Formats: sequence, C-alpha cells, structure tokens
Amino acid sequence: MSNRLGVAIVGSGFIAEFHVRAFRGVRDADVVAVGGRNQETVQRVCDLARELRVGDPVGYADVRELVRDPAVDAVWITTPNHVRLETVRAITEEVRSGRARLRGIAIEKPLGRTVAEAAEVVRLVEEAGLLHGYLENQVFAPGVTRAHELVWARGASAAGSPYLARCAEEHSGPHRAWFWQGDKQGGGVLNDMMCHSMEAGRFLLTPPGVDMAQWLTPISVDATIASLKWSRPAYADDLVQRYGPEVDYRRSPSEDYARATVVYRNGDGDEVIVEGTTSWSYVGAGLRLTFELLGPEYAMSVNSLDTEAKVFLSREIAGKPGEDLVEKQNAEGGLMPVLPDEPGAYGYTEENRHMVTRFLDGVPPAESLHDGLLVTRLLMGAYRSAQEGRRVDLTGAEDLDHFTPDVAQGTWRPRG
Ligand SMILES: NC(=O)c1ccc[n+]([C@@H]2O[C@H](COP(=O)([O-])OP(=O)(O)OC[C@H]3O[C@@H](n4cnc5c(N)ncnc54)[C@H](O)[C@@H]3O)[C@@H](O)[C@H]2O)c1
Repeated sequence: MSNRLGVAIVGSGFIAEFHVRAFRGVRDADVVAVGGRNQETVQRVCDLARELRVGDPVGYADVRELVRDPAVDAVWITTPNHVRLETVRAITEEVRSGRARLRGIAIEKPLGRTVAEAAEVVRLVEEAGLLHGYLENQVFAPGVTRAHELVWARGASAAGSPYLARCAEEHSGPHRAWFWQGDKQGGGVLNDMMCHSMEAGRFLLTPPGVDMAQWLTPISVDATIASLKWSRPAYADDLVQRYGPEVDYRRSPSEDYARATVVYRNGDGDEVIVEGTTSWSYVGAGLRLTFELLGPEYAMSVNSLDTEAKVFLSREIAGKPGEDLVEKQNAEGGLMPVLPDEPGAYGYTEENRHMVTRFLDGVPPAESLHDGLLVTRLLMGAYRSAQEGRRVDLTGAEDLDHFTPDVAQGTWRPRG
C-alpha cells in the first residue's frame, strides 16, 4: 500500500475547484483524475490542479472508466444532487465487481434529496466495503474547531456543557440553474444550506473527540420556510433571464429563507438546542457564515465576514463583477472584506486533510455518511414541520423515510 492517496474528483464544477485549491494544504495526496460530463470544465479543473501542483490528473467522461484507473485510490463525489445516486451506484458496482479497487469515498453535502435516497447511498457504499466520509466542510473550519476546543476546555469543563448553538449560512442565491429547481436539488435553501448549519450545531454542542450521535439524541424540530425575495415578480423574471424558463418562481418557487430549531437531549441528560437560519435572500458583501455557542458562563462566536483584511474602493472606480474578494460577492466598491484563503477559512483544507489521513490509515473518518444521513433526516423533519405548521417528533415516532417535501415535488405554494 502506498503512503500517498490518489484522489479522483467526480464532477468538475464550482466545488470541484474549491477542493483542488484545498489540496494545496494536503501533503500526502495527489489529484490523479477528474471526471465530468463537460469536457471543457473537466479540462479546466485538470489544468488548475497542474497549475497549483496538486497533481497531474487525467480527465474522464465516464465515471466507471475513471474508477478503474489503478492510480485512483479514493473518490470525492461533487456531482449535482439529482445525479448523486447514479454516480454512487456506478462507482460501487465497479468496486463490487472487482473492476475497481478503492480505499474510500467522500461525498458532498447534502447526502440525498430524501431520507430514502441518502439511506440508499449509505447502503451502496457499505455493501461495497468502502471507508466513507461526508464532506461537511464547516465542522473542519479552523475558526469553528479552535473556538469549539477552547470553550469546551476552558468553559464547559468549569461551568458545564453548552446549551445553545446558533448557526447560519446566507448569501444572495446559488450559481447554477439546478440549485433553484426543487425537484433537482431536493428543495430550496433549507436543503441546500441548512444542512451545514444543522451539522455545525451538532458539532458545537458535542465535546471534542466524542461521537455526536452518542452525545446528542434528537427530540424534535420546528421550522419555517418562506419565499421572501425570489418569487417577487421582478426577481422571478430575473431568474428566467438568467437561467431560462425551467426556473419559474412565479409558478413553482423554492424557499429562499428557512429557520429551524432542533431540540436534543445531551449526554448529561439536559435539553439543548440548535437554532439554524439560512437564506438566499441576504445581500451583504458576500457569503456570510456565523456560528455561536452559548453555555452557562461562556460564549463563542465566529463571523466569516469579520475578516482581518479589507479593501476600500472609491466611487471613482467602476469595478468588474467578480468573486475575487469573497465567495458570492455582491459589490466591487466601498469597504469590502477580503478572505485571503477561502478553502482554508471555510474548512475544505482541513476536511480534505482529515479524509486523506483516515483513508490512508484505514480508519473511518470522524464525519461519515451516517452523519450525512442523520442531517437529511433533520432536514426532512424541518420541511414537514414547515409544511404542516407543527413541531415534528424526531425520536422515531414519525415516518420520515418516505417523506418528500412539497418544494421538491414542485407543489409548494408560499403562504400569502
Ligand atoms: N460544501 C459546500 O460548501 C458546497 C458548496 C457548493 C456545492 N456543494 C455541493 O457539491 C455538489 C456540486 O455542486 P457545484 O456547486 O459544484 O455544482 P456545479 O453545477 O457547479 O458542478 C457540478 C458538476 O458536475 C458535473 N456533472 C453533472 N452531471 C454529472 C454526471 N452524471 N457525472 C459526472 N459529472 C456530472 C457538471 O458538468 C458540473 O461540472 C452539490 O451536491 C452541492 O450541494 C457543496
């Protein structure tokens, strides 16, 4: 067994490029293959890997051929949500038939569009005997992990465990048509971004090094969803202009705002709460991630837009639109935050380092597909709560395994 991991990235879009940038901070892996349906973007991701000297990857159009490449030891799946299952099925069939040999598979959030889909992904991967990781970057973000470690070491050890985590991810809307389409994506912003906040909240409330599923037992979820901005006629027309008639928010919108409150019982027997809020209707400098953890005598907070670096550009400069200062940037003038190392700050670098180390050591990653499945269950509970206007039981009394949100079926109508 080599002591370097050959990583293949399947999917050649936005997040694939982030992963390639993150591999600059991983010493014992090379990006050896990139797969995707679009030859031009596959080429672009391969070129980026070479430019950053994180590998000399071969581009593949066919994922089955990609995993048969003997240089590929592990696969990072970054295809869109609606092709997640078919991608996993193709890879695991190759492994089970013996045509491919892999050590592990790492899969982007959200694990599935429904509990049934996410459970099927877990089943296929485990049947193929692979180590698996769930790519939830925020629980690897250094600001989050360091503050978490410190409040548990100095605060919780003296005063008792924390009781409230507040997490949010907000920006002004996604970058590709399929994210906006409920059926393809699995919902709106709740499915797309609340998955991060739900997992970050579980992580914060759990002592460092302890299994989150052991420490926190989900009790109930209560949620609201709304279409605050993008179903307004002028903005709905804007979406059609940008993405074509298949993104029709006058007829079938997805939610662009969601909040959810999840109640857990922790390992001390206390009730603790995760509050998540998320939106595609936030227009600030760019993507904003916030985290808070509150305990009896302490608190921590992180805000990704409180950057150490800022630039000021006067009104005399008409800047070209770009994302060179911050992800989902909304302005090119005035006082703007600058994130010099976005893959590092958002957690992709530490996430990839963790997955690579665990796969090389033959040890299951701390963030596994079982966490992804649990998050999907929380999200489906939240959709049901929002749809039915009631608190949803998460102790197993309610069947969420066969639930598909109205938003994902194109039948959701925002309350007027
Ligand atoms: N962790 C994060 O913060 C984060 C951020 C963005 C996206 N994501 C997740 O990553 C996934 C991809 O998102 P994205 O923003 O990169 O989307 P994207 O649309 O920019 O890229 C998707 C890529 O997959 C390719 N593709 C489509 N169908 C395919 C198939 N059948 N086989 C192989 N390739 C195929 C497309 O050509 C495209 O290159 C989604 O699940 C999304 O939720 C995670």
